Amino acid sequence: MQVWAIANQKGGVGKTTTTLFLGRGLAQAGHRVLLIDLDPHASLTRAFAVPSAPPPSGTHDLFGSSGATLASLARSTDIEGLKLVAAQPALATLERRGATQPGLGLALGRALHGAHGLYDYALLDCPPTLGLLMINALAAADRLVVPTQTDQLALHGLADMLRTAEMVERSRRRPLPGFVVPTLYDRRTRAGIHNLDLLHDRYEGRVWPHAVPVDTRLRDANALTAAVPPTGRGADAYRRALTWLLAQPDASQRQAA
Ligand SMILES: Nc1ncnc2c1ncn2[C@@H]1O[C@H](COP(=O)(O)OP(=O)(O)O)[C@@H](O)[C@H]1O
Ligand SMILES: [Mg+2]
Repeated sequence: MQVWAIANQKGGVGKTTTTLFLGRGLAQAGHRVLLIDLDPHASLTRAFAVPSAPPPSGTHDLFGSSGATLASLARSTDIEGLKLVAAQPALATLERRGATQPGLGLALGRALHGAHGLYDYALLDCPPTLGLLMINALAAADRLVVPTQTDQLALHGLADMLRTAEMVERSRRRPLPGFVVPTLYDRRTRAGIHNLDLLHDRYEGRVWPHAVPVDTRLRDANALTAAVPPTGRGADAYRRALTWLLAQPDASQRQAA
């Protein structure tokens, strides 16, 4: 199983949308895919219309003493081959507990280890804060996928995110290759074009050499549903981004090269 963390310390950059499209694309290619919603805001969970009351079982249960496994928490979706572990609002309280309970930073990694062989890919939709949940994701991931907008502020956020990944890499002594997917790109603005060029220059080889354009079908938060049509500029771009991501060598191949 390959674990991809979809992360950026900035909110509203397209993390959840990217998780949804990459997950759907992988499932449609015949892979067994598990999406794990790590964001207390639960946008991914809502996209799959999981009722929020009473709180569903989900990611938070991995951090308790119930012994819940990913297989027991994964729920089927309308998309064949795609399962979801839902987020619960209680995830927000974990950051506080994290300070007092050693070992909580590795709970997700342990759960993923226990699910080995059940899925081909696990995609982790991360919250926009560098806390316990994001650390869990980065500690467990084989790859980091960083969706980023193409404005100036977002480029700073990207640098922060990649620095965090390097810190995790050093402490766990295992490579965490990071790949950048430019999102919400507006080719009508001069700043957008300039910053996309900058991004491609600065992170050559690690950034998808195109960008997901702004697509009105994806614009409204309420419209982000798993039923979003597989056609359109955004969906097409995500298909091509996935093909590119799958063609990138993983860390061990890079080292051997
Ligand atoms: N390519 C796109 N075109 C238009 N709107 C988008 C696009 N990607 C994401 N959005 C919208 O932008 C907002 C933020 O996206 P989301 O994926 O929730 O970001 P994050 O998970 O980083 O907070 C949502 O309302 C989403 O529907
Ligand atoms: Mg999100």
